[in-house]
Amino acid sequence: MNKAYHKPLRGQSAEVFIESLTQDGRGVAHIDGKAIFIHGALPGETVRFTYNKIQKRFDEGTVQEILTAAPKRVLPKCPHFGICGGCSLQHLETTAQIQAKEQILRDALVHIGKVQPQSGYLPPLVAKHWGYRRKARLGVRYVERKGQLLVGFRERGSSFITNMQSCQVLHPKLGMHIIALRETLASLSICKQIPQVEMAMGDTSCILVIRVLAAPSTADRLKLSQFAYIHDMHIYLQTGGPQQVEPLDKTAHLGYSIPELGLSLEFEPLDFTQVHLELNQLLITRVLELLNPQNNSHILDLFCGIGNFTLPLATCSNRVVGVEGDAGLVARAKNNAVTNGLNNCEFFTTDLYKELDLTTAPWLQQTFSQIVLDPPRSGALQLLPHLPKLNAQQLLYISCLPATLARDAEILVHELGYTLDVAGVMDMFPHTAHVESIALFTRN
Ligand SMILES: C[S@@+](CC[C@H](N)C(=O)[O-])C[C@H]1O[C@@H](n2cnc3c(N)ncnc32)[C@H](O)[C@@H]1O
Repeated sequence: MNKAYHKPLRGQSAEVFIESLTQDGRGVAHIDGKAIFIHGALPGETVRFTYNKIQKRFDEGTVQEILTAAPKRVLPKCPHFGICGGCSLQHLETTAQIQAKEQILRDALVHIGKVQPQSGYLPPLVAKHWGYRRKARLGVRYVERKGQLLVGFRERGSSFITNMQSCQVLHPKLGMHIIALRETLASLSICKQIPQVEMAMGDTSCILVIRVLAAPSTADRLKLSQFAYIHDMHIYLQTGGPQQVEPLDKTAHLGYSIPELGLSLEFEPLDFTQVHLELNQLLITRVLELLNPQNNSHILDLFCGIGNFTLPLATCSNRVVGVEGDAGLVARAKNNAVTNGLNNCEFFTTDLYKELDLTTAPWLQQTFSQIVLDPPRSGALQLLPHLPKLNAQQLLYISCLPATLARDAEILVHELGYTLDVAGVMDMFPHTAHVESIALFTRN
């Protein structure tokens, strides 16, 4: 910040030129050297904005008027855009969204990781942009003041629930029936004891897991059954933790197929699965292309979930070891290997964020030709020192947060002797600020 900086007041407005985009989809500008993050503004635009928050290191604001619009600005499709916290980029044309995400990855690798991919960036993976989301958690809240039940994502930057009528990014099976769901939930005797609904959808069937803090009456159960019947869904009731989930009527099966490999994977409604199944198919193809497994390949798949990469890799390699912290997911992965006739997979339940030894991680005494690493947002810092001992020539890192990928890349490249070969982004969550990426490291 330079000396000419005059502390603004909340509510004050100013005009700025927007230089870039933050990781959460806000426009970045500078006034007298101090950064300001502005909701609703896009790079290349000149906007008039209102200050919302004055902080020590940066300020925050919201667009009041767009004075010069970016050429890639488009009209948001959803009427809730700007209020709902589910999406933050609908005002930007979709190819520009993924370009902006690639820029975020590039910046993170350079500034945090101090690395550049030796062979450059892969073309972004893109699939459908609307109605793609097959996993979601919607909040439910009865608002006494309004005498109304709300069902939706949280509002942007608040704990309030958006009064959602429809959702353009959710699969239409639920996205186009939010009002009917809300009306059904509002009609239940326990409507004030329902904090959330989770949606899980495979290739075809759709399950809604309704969290209930009180037992539904017989009439409530009937209403829920009718809703499920009319909308061709299945309802489960969750009375406690993730283990306490029961079908309202009968059990339904969730699964997705990977047609080109002849595979079919099953999962339970609260299991981790990739949200965008069409993009996931492209991702699996990219994983296979980058690793190019051979008859003698011995691959380690860390954070393997239900075997989303383990099984495809097992179809074309000698052996694959999958490791995952959630015992339920490991059980599903084992079962998926059996039902797909793959007997060259082995699975272990290991907490990969704890100290590892041969008792908790017996797979550490094996060596591998390649490793796949697909951690949660917090990355894989604790695991990195173990990797060189496993002797793999290639390490494929799939990331849902560029900052932690870049932090881990710095260690892999500058401390552990790997080279960053290629990197790229994929549009797993169009219209949101989530940046999913992939990076291939090689070791001499
Ligand atoms: C981004 S998901 C990837 C799952 C899988 N590769 C897929 O494509 O479906 C991350 C996985 O890490 C698992 N996980 C989270 N914390 C873990 C931990 N401490 N130890 C091991 N696995 C963990 C989650 O259960 C989840 O399955």
